[in-house]
Amino acid sequence: MEFSIKNGNPEKQRNACVIVGVYESRKLSAAAAAIDRASDGYLGSILRRGDMEGKLGSSLLLHNVPGTLCDRVLLIGLGKEREFREREYRRAVAASVKALDNHGANDAASFLAELPIKKRDIGWKIEQMIELTMDSIYRFAHPQCKKDEERRGVYKLIINVPQRNDLKKGDVALQRGLAIASGIRLAKDLGNLPGNICTPSYLAEQAAELGNHYGFKVEVLEKADMEKLGMGSFLSVAKGSRQPPKLIVLHYNKGETDQKPVALVGKGITFDAGGISLKPAGDMDEMKYDMCGAASVLGTFKAIAEMNLPINAVGVIPTCENLPDGNANKPGDIVTSMSGQTIEILNTDAEGRLILCDALTYTERFEPEAVVDIATLTGACVIALGHHASGLFGNSDNLIKELHNAGEDAFDRVWPMPTWDDYQDQLKSNFADMGNIGGRAGGSITAACFLSRFAKKFDWAHLDIAGTAWKSGKDRGATGRPVPLLTHFLMQRSGER
Ligand code: BES
Ligand code: MN
Ligand code: ZN
Repeated sequence: MEFSIKNGNPEKQRNACVIVGVYESRKLSAAAAAIDRASDGYLGSILRRGDMEGKLGSSLLLHNVPGTLCDRVLLIGLGKEREFREREYRRAVAASVKALDNHGANDAASFLAELPIKKRDIGWKIEQMIELTMDSIYRFAHPQCKKDEERRGVYKLIINVPQRNDLKKGDVALQRGLAIASGIRLAKDLGNLPGNICTPSYLAEQAAELGNHYGFKVEVLEKADMEKLGMGSFLSVAKGSRQPPKLIVLHYNKGETDQKPVALVGKGITFDAGGISLKPAGDMDEMKYDMCGAASVLGTFKAIAEMNLPINAVGVIPTCENLPDGNANKPGDIVTSMSGQTIEILNTDAEGRLILCDALTYTERFEPEAVVDIATLTGACVIALGHHASGLFGNSDNLIKELHNAGEDAFDRVWPMPTWDDYQDQLKSNFADMGNIGGRAGGSITAACFLSRFAKKFDWAHLDIAGTAWKSGKDRGATGRPVPLLTHFLMQRSGER
């Protein structure tokens, strides 16, 4: 796939296909109106005949439109003009890619980025168009099955901007969009890989390769190293598995600044069967996605490295499997975390917090400016927020605001949840400093409260991505979220925007 930014008239494009929008009740967008004028009202006459009404996401392909130089004109329905916002824009762009994919055109010029959206500039629209296009042509290629052929569809997309002086902004957005799309792609590939391939060792190899390719340092701590550090909580989860656990540490420092780093900590459970507190069989395969937090850290590091973002960032990924075994954690077991706090494991399926708590304590040594952990942590978060927003928790109002804004910017949205001390009581244990579960009420909140006990020494936020990191059903697969959010967050931090 190749993208370029141009400024020109729709009727003068010599492409296989020109894409323009039509609002509901057949109101033409500016580019559609230009084609209508050039063709002596041809578009208008077709629309009046009732071939298209402009319903959001609909499309109509026309050949040999008079007065134009292109082979085809693709009309995309935009819905009601006054309701046209981010969501509608994204639907329209996705519809245009899908329509192109079904036809023979292999180069196209899209005029959809010109459509006005409140509070969004041309840069935003271009970035979104690139991410969405890459998203819809994405096909997971399993290393061993050649099931999916590469898609035929478009391979050259010209994104048209309304004014010549948008061209520079457009090119910047193009680079940003491509970098984020490549990070999303990595996160999706890793997420989609099955647990028998994507093991902790595999993740460590991928991280090392990433560091090699972009020239940043990657360390991998082995079980023995973690024993020395006293990571009793993390290692207790890993005990039930034949795969050795790894703690992957990425050091990206492009400005070579002496600025303190921003740390991203990602949950990397490469398969979560629940342990002795075994999960039910239905949909258990989806627990291969339990490393999507880790994948989002790797994807984000890829994106910022592609952009050459001047920032000091550290990535910390605790990774292991959670399986039942003769040597696995048992309900009632008590472990000592690296912080010295003891934990009564009342449910071995609440393992994410057990590996993250030691990773958070480990992160202290970098004296981070801020720490964000990313985890497919609780089913309760899916019940609370569904599949559109990730849960946002933390101990710093400023950091929470920053992440919220980054999510809005990237349209990879999060919603704030409380971590009040009132909830901490639910974690009380008679036998240790805390239990690892807090009961059914507010399950995503008590999980965050558990983590907060290991994040006292820095500004910290936690993203629960259980509802957003992958899709079930017919569109099943990893989404690559929250790579867009995290990348925008780091962009804001580096002051590049
Ligand atoms: N990885 C799961 C969370 C999860 C479950 C994400 C379903 C997406 C869909 C996590 O390790 C887990 O099992 N959490 C438990 C916690 C409970 C035992 C307190 C849960 O959410 O049921
Ligand atoms: Mn679990
Ligand atoms: Zn889990």
